[in-house]
Amino acid sequence: MTHRASDRDANLVAPAFVRVARALACVACIAALAACGGAGGGSANAPAASSNLGPAAQLGEKIFRDTTLSASGKLACISCHDPANGHASPFDTPVTMGGPNLDQPGTRTSPSLRYLRFNTPFSFASDGAPAGGFFWDGRANTLAEQARAPFLNPFEMANPDVAAVVAKLASAPYASQFRAVFGDGIFSDSEAAFDRARFALERYQREDAVFASFNSKYDAFIAGRTTLAPQELNGFALFNRPDKGNCAACHPSAKPVNAPGALFTDFTYDNLGVPRNPAIPANADPAYRDGGLCGMGRPDLAARNDLCGAFKVPTLRNVALRKHFFHNGRLKTLEDAVTFYVKRDTNPEIWYSTDALGNVTPYDDLGERERGNVNTTEGPYNRRRGEAPALTDAEIQDLVAFLRTLTDGWAP
Ligand code: HEC
Ligand code: HEC
Repeated sequence: MTHRASDRDANLVAPAFVRVARALACVACIAALAACGGAGGGSANAPAASSNLGPAAQLGEKIFRDTTLSASGKLACISCHDPANGHASPFDTPVTMGGPNLDQPGTRTSPSLRYLRFNTPFSFASDGAPAGGFFWDGRANTLAEQARAPFLNPFEMANPDVAAVVAKLASAPYASQFRAVFGDGIFSDSEAAFDRARFALERYQREDAVFASFNSKYDAFIAGRTTLAPQELNGFALFNRPDKGNCAACHPSAKPVNAPGALFTDFTYDNLGVPRNPAIPANADPAYRDGGLCGMGRPDLAARNDLCGAFKVPTLRNVALRKHFFHNGRLKTLEDAVTFYVKRDTNPEIWYSTDALGNVTPYDDLGERERGNVNTTEGPYNRRRGEAPALTDAEIQDLVAFLRTLTDGWAP
């Protein structure tokens, strides 16, 4: 399919969920930067120390770090969700090797676990827009439900069944603590014990302040405790402006009602047409596709061709600590990730595969039918081949400088 034809398809099947309201909210944000942080600011409260965790959360922290709970004995949650990388992947490869012998590759990049406590279960809004849920495709409704998968996934911790996980828990150094919290007989019922372990993991991610500390330079700026450098400030304006980056349309920089500060995600879904990543072993098979919302993890949405290729909007907090960007980790630097947004359609040859005749296949990780789902109507990707990108190269650098202010743990 040519580029032009896919544009036409996109206009016929315009995404039902164009983000007009949030773009307008961002105009207000430029008018009153400080006000957008919300009364009270986001970062004032000092993070609670681990000792402030409740009994279940304390157990959850131990489980999170325990490599003996994997078939290889070498993988724990923390292995793929490293605090040094904003609780996202620390690995140089886009996907991780798991399984009993650490030789089974995954198919997606490990996302950040930060700020997920403000997420909601998966649902469709009244306008049909999908939102919420955990994983890139929203297939789990709670953090506890999510935690079932890594323990049993053959290319992650790869336990053969729930009983195998529970046998390891029962002989862990913290087994007596587990009994003290969940009852003496807890290990005699595997499903109940597994359920409690996943509950503990959820409590840990919800209670430990490190997962939602709101203490970046951006938070200090919104609270009026510091200023942004001119380049960062310009990047912030470009981030919000609907005619420039328009990033805030999906990565809101304003505080939502349910959180003490901005989350830089609205937990909705979109189809960005991220290029195919040849570094993912599964992609060696030309027939393999990651359908996202309509893909393998979502048999309930398999018939929803309109949702194919859509993935959850990740938070941009701590994005500068990531080693790979997007669900398939195709881009490796923040500069490239931002450049992709503004030059995806103006210069498709940079991103997508080219055939022997020099023809580019835009959105080459999607099936032909699904290419029409790619968002080509909303800025910054509402440009056509040969047009000027929404941001100049200098503006891209400014935007990147702003994104670097979103890293937790900033000190003046
Ligand atoms: C081998 C690497 C690996 C291990 C080990 C691992 N994860 Fe993950 N995690 C991933 C990947 C990859 C994804 C994205 C998968 C997807 O979307 O289909 C993910 C997704 C998640 C998500 C969803 C994030 C979101 O944005 O919705 C949570 C929460 C999570 N993991 C928590 C855990 C917990 C808790 C453990 C330990 C029980 C764990 N992970 C172990 C790689 C790993
Ligand atoms: C229409 C919604 C939308 C807009 C507008 C948008 N994004 Fe995104 N963003 C997403 C979605 C969806 C993803 C995940 C897509 C995927 O992995 O396939 C994403 C992912 C990212 C990532 C990768 C983060 C990670 O953890 O892998 C970065 C960086 C990013 N966006 C930055 C930006 C910037 C900068 C802008 C403005 C120039 C912007 N986004 C505009 C929806 C949007």
